[in-house]
Amino acid sequence: MSFADLRLSLATQSLDIVMQHTIMQSLSLADARAFPLGQSSVGFTNEQHIETLYIHIPFCHTLCRFCSFHKIKYNQQKALIYFEALRKEIRRVIAAGLRFNRVYIGGGTTTILEDELVKTIELIKSLTHVREVSCETDPSYFKTGNPELLNGLVDRMSIGLQSFDDNILKASGRFEKFGSGDEQAIDIQKGIELFPTVNVDLMYGFKGQTPDSVVADISRMIQLEPDQITTYPLTLGIGKSRKKSKCLAGEPRDLWPQFLAVKQAMSDRYTMEFPWTYSRNFGQHVENKYVLDGENCFGVGSGAFGRFGQQFQVSSFDIDGYIQLINQGNVGTSHHKMLSNKSINQHHLMIMMGKGHLDNALFKAHTGKSLWQAFPLELIYLLASGALIKDGDSYRTTESGQFIALKMFSGFLAGMDYLREQALDLAA
Ligand SMILES: C[S@@+](CC[C@H](N)C(=O)[O-])C[C@H]1O[C@@H](n2cnc3c(N)ncnc32)[C@H](O)[C@@H]1O
Ligand code: SF4
Repeated sequence: MSFADLRLSLATQSLDIVMQHTIMQSLSLADARAFPLGQSSVGFTNEQHIETLYIHIPFCHTLCRFCSFHKIKYNQQKALIYFEALRKEIRRVIAAGLRFNRVYIGGGTTTILEDELVKTIELIKSLTHVREVSCETDPSYFKTGNPELLNGLVDRMSIGLQSFDDNILKASGRFEKFGSGDEQAIDIQKGIELFPTVNVDLMYGFKGQTPDSVVADISRMIQLEPDQITTYPLTLGIGKSRKKSKCLAGEPRDLWPQFLAVKQAMSDRYTMEFPWTYSRNFGQHVENKYVLDGENCFGVGSGAFGRFGQQFQVSSFDIDGYIQLINQGNVGTSHHKMLSNKSINQHHLMIMMGKGHLDNALFKAHTGKSLWQAFPLELIYLLASGALIKDGDSYRTTESGQFIALKMFSGFLAGMDYLREQALDLAA
């Protein structure tokens, strides 16, 4: 290993350690309190407006090796009862006064029972006005399902591919499930033709991937011309799921050259919105709507998180327990905790670093503190390492700053994983 490699390796690993420490401090549910039963309105004032209603569908036909999202193996009877409960919960929160600009349906496999999904979106649209409905799915849905049923109901479809490389698909358990990279390219093409806005997820940081193979994935994806491409660095959870995903991961030091390769491959035809999200810069401009940048969000369904100002909410991770809560007249939120100002500011820092601009005046107007008051040690480190450069009263991120933002994002995903593990324990 050369000296430069060693330095990169040490820098990446120390970043991982700092991120892990930060997550475990700020996202511990040790102080979470059980949500008072019978409080079905979760304290909404009449017509309370938030940005996003998040809906979780926790079922998949088979489970991918790298994935630690909340899901169980599909069981039709349970899924049908689940969707019934979900609609009851949605009716309940809307009746209690909750209003939202957009709906994000995530999974699991959201399209696993498409008639039920259609009924659920139609219900929401019959009860309230929403600006946009986003939904996640996998490529095979466009081969085996009836995606036309979602026409006019889903505005933005996000399709998970991860890679065209059959070896990676096989190692992660997706080849048998969704077919080869070539087959999935055909399926994705159908999706792109059907929906107004389409995002496709790719991942990098897998064992065996190189900057060249990552470029091959990106170039092939660009040929399909989706509106957005999200490039996730493979993230290892903090708890039990870590071992399984670690078997698939490459060396931490390989991430930086792969990140540079992604950027380079995208640069002609896509604009970087965040170091992990790119939007088409040809044809119609697409507003980036993916990342919830700290705005209020309410989660429904088993395994959803929500945030109202400083209050962080967790829905029951026990699917039967969730159904029971709903049938007893409650909402699915089972626990809540107060987030510290420090953790909220850390989230702002990740988003500002990702956007490439740390605007001091905006930050102060938002939090009452200057950047230096909120992040004295972080700023010293970021400036000394060349990740930030001064720009008047504010700061801009350099390319290494973008990479640090990407690592922070990966830490955020690991944090969600850590929350899921704790929430499962709360449910047990
Ligand atoms: C939870 S999946 C839901 C979409 C759909 N079920 C699928 O698999 O295509 C959403 C996205 O999360 C990303 N993801 C899942 N596990 C991840 C991990 N360990 N690290 C980084 N990204 C991950 C993948 O890119 C995936 O497309
Ligand atoms: S990646 Fe998607 S299909 Fe695979 S287990 Fe996770 S949610 Fe299910």
